Amino acid sequence: MEPCTFVIFGATGNLAQNKLLPALYHLEQAKRLPESMTIIGFGRREWNDAGWVEEVETVLKPRVDDLDTLVMERLAKRLRYFQGNLNELQSYVRLKQRIEEDPNLPENIVFYMAIRPAEFGVVSDYLAEVGLNSQEDGWRRLVIEKPFGYDLESAQALDQRLHRHYTEEQLFRIDHYLGKGMVQNVLVFRFANLMMEPLWNRNYIDHVQITHAESRGIDMRAEYYDSAGSLRDMLQSHLLQMLTLVAMEPPPNLDAESLRDEKVKVLKSIRPIPPSAVHAHAYRAQYGRGMIGGEKVKGYLDESGVAPNSTTETYTALKLYIDNWRWRNVPFYIRTGKRMAEDVSMIAIRFRHPPQQLFRETQLEQIKPNWLLLGISPKESLRAELQIKLPGLEMKTRTTTLDASSYAHENTRLDAYAGLLLDVLQGDHSLFLRYDEVNWAWQVVDPILKVWSMERDYIHTYPAGSWGPKESVRLFDKEDQYWRHSVEPELEERY
Ligand code: BG6
Repeated sequence: MEPCTFVIFGATGNLAQNKLLPALYHLEQAKRLPESMTIIGFGRREWNDAGWVEEVETVLKPRVDDLDTLVMERLAKRLRYFQGNLNELQSYVRLKQRIEEDPNLPENIVFYMAIRPAEFGVVSDYLAEVGLNSQEDGWRRLVIEKPFGYDLESAQALDQRLHRHYTEEQLFRIDHYLGKGMVQNVLVFRFANLMMEPLWNRNYIDHVQITHAESRGIDMRAEYYDSAGSLRDMLQSHLLQMLTLVAMEPPPNLDAESLRDEKVKVLKSIRPIPPSAVHAHAYRAQYGRGMIGGEKVKGYLDESGVAPNSTTETYTALKLYIDNWRWRNVPFYIRTGKRMAEDVSMIAIRFRHPPQQLFRETQLEQIKPNWLLLGISPKESLRAELQIKLPGLEMKTRTTTLDASSYAHENTRLDAYAGLLLDVLQGDHSLFLRYDEVNWAWQVVDPILKVWSMERDYIHTYPAGSWGPKESVRLFDKEDQYWRHSVEPELEERY
């Protein structure tokens, strides 16, 4: 792999601390970083290189298991600090000088925008103004975090702004969900197993659920979160990406463009939600006070930095239909929430009931339908629930699970960010978003954003530590549909 200089804008921020630095550490541990790669932390604080190394160590200690001193020493050798102000041209002039004048800094450069979305445009413009976008001496790549834009219009404006100075090949719009092992496994599961394909459509699937629930709140991110909300923060990006992988047609090959073409087709086929139908398709709520893990936690409005009358949603549930031959009229229920009962990300696919009521005359009034459960986190898992007859004279059944999970060995378990960072270093765009994907994803949620932004005087609440507002079940099309909270077999069994 070619050596490069890796510049992190927002080096002391939440994303750098929670995701990027641990990912870089893990890559260092796995000896996957190019030899002379150097990591520059761009921050406002008055630190020198040693201060930054100390800070990185403090950040990593609670976030990685058993911080290894040798690995930390190797990582420390790569770390440099650059004190600068994102909003001052002069800082970029100095940054350029520093990179050019230090013979130890490789010429290829990655600029990682671990900053507030409102700053993406400013930073990329300044970089270009001082010529740091030019690829004359080595490549220059820009990694842009989500949300890409604030709505459809601002996303378009941001994209045009970026394209004034950068080619598409230089841009890496990251959605870290695409780096998660299980999310990629959806493709393997669907397209490497012939037996799934005939079942994967409206004839056999009753509905699909995609859930991302977190027990944590908004941490120290009120400034960003209060103006974003869960629809922008999670749903427009991560959850719609998962939906595309579940719903897409097999691509002709695994090239970045072929994959993204198929994902775009899915997004384009999502039935638009007219303003009058927003309430039938979308439900939002905000967490109030509650208990998590036996401890009292604050409600959203009590979090520091949140406006006292904020109606920002921390929970969103959506019902979408994909109007194509495979999926017409199969509801996709998608939900995400902060301060929920547990941390779980999963895809649950419920099959239809068998057409014949063969067991009508027996004690089994209605057989439970099959579920296919794909656990994304905290554990990757892949399970199918089937019905079997209990031994004995009577006709009784129970649910059994076929478990095809392959639990990653500790050493091979790298976080999504680690894999994606390697892709950036290698210039592989397959797991990054093309602008038309982002654009179509905004088109899906834009009508909801518009209606919600006009209804700012009231929002439903749910207690922190719960599974979200019970009223969200009104999105379900049928009485026998309900939220599935876990990949574990459900407790009440039909005996
Ligand atoms: C981020 C969101 O993109 O994803 C956060 O901004 C969220 O609000 C996070 O907590 C969830 O990702 P993960 O990988 O921790 O499940």
